[in-house]
Amino acid sequence: MIPFLDLGAGYRELENDIDAAVKRVLSSGWYIFGEEVDSFEAEYAKYCGARETISVANGLDALILSLKALNVGPGDEVIVPSNTFIATWLAASAVGAKAVPVEPDAFTHNIDAGKIVSAITSRTKAVIVVHLYGQPVDLDAVKAITVEHGLALIEDAAQAHGARYKGKRIGSHGDAVCWSFYPAKNFGCFGDGGAVTTDNPSLASQIRLLRNYGSREKYINEVKGVNSRLDPIQAAVLKVKLAHLDEWNSRRKAIADEYLKELVGLDIILPGVPEWADPVWHLFVIRSPDRKSLQERLAKEGISTQIHYPLAPSQQPAYAENVNEYGSLPIAERLASEVLSLPIGPHQSRENTLRICEAVRAVARRV
Ligand SMILES: Cc1ncc(COP(=O)(O)O)c(C=O)c1O
Repeated sequence: MIPFLDLGAGYRELENDIDAAVKRVLSSGWYIFGEEVDSFEAEYAKYCGARETISVANGLDALILSLKALNVGPGDEVIVPSNTFIATWLAASAVGAKAVPVEPDAFTHNIDAGKIVSAITSRTKAVIVVHLYGQPVDLDAVKAITVEHGLALIEDAAQAHGARYKGKRIGSHGDAVCWSFYPAKNFGCFGDGGAVTTDNPSLASQIRLLRNYGSREKYINEVKGVNSRLDPIQAAVLKVKLAHLDEWNSRRKAIADEYLKELVGLDIILPGVPEWADPVWHLFVIRSPDRKSLQERLAKEGISTQIHYPLAPSQQPAYAENVNEYGSLPIAERLASEVLSLPIGPHQSRENTLRICEAVRAVARRV
């Protein structure tokens, strides 16, 4: 079997350093906030080229707390991509705002900046873009719109650690950039984790307040906050892994390059990469009009694939009551019915990549 992603291999490569880091925290006697969290925040901010990192408990909280800190709430509208992991939409819903979907361009799977303006109303407060599958969004095009209309720009970068837009790392283009350190991400810990990076110190200070019970000083609660903190154990693990992120991303790129070279001329659509984008290939997503049989035949060859995502958020039962608000979202729905993610990860051997290419070529040969 070729696994979709081998997380255990990631641990084994760094085992000595990770074990030492975890032991250091365990023997320190300090298990919430503290030096490990502070130094991780400083190192990640530096890596992203942002002034501040505020670590939180997970990527969804990073989005929710960013919206709250930007005063987005009931009655407001938040523009979101029509095709994304549901967390992007749930964040808007969690603060009582309405998620207003905008369709992607089918070449990059990312939000189509040309369709944002027509979705803006007097209630629109923010735009959340998603660097889906590790591919950066056209940030200049989106930012021109958010600046002109006085909207906040939030980037959901849960899948894009290390990606570059026009040569500059994702992390500080928007008002708030939200990260997940879920284990399967390009930069993941051994449990849940997340962060916001920003160049705006007052926004950072508000998110810091909200993540810790609304408290700066012990037992003085300035606002109604939540408990959303990154554990020092996870911070220590992430510090070890940060030193390897670029190298691991370059291994993903080598696999993606191989796929892009070997899988041309077949009855599938390969992911498109604009010339200004340096994606980090969190996922390698192809499209097939006959996905079901492609997936089944690859499974017979021992190749695991996944679907990101089989339903657009608007098609989910969770949003059934809102379905009449959205109108039709044909691009998101079509992508949801055609996308298939091939295995990719920093520990996939070249031999396995070539085996996958051979199997896809045999199955998806143009007829
Ligand atoms: C695009 C996107 N946004 C948000 C999230 C939420 O992150 P988390 O699972 O850490 O809450 C994820 C991943 O899970 C994601 O892929």
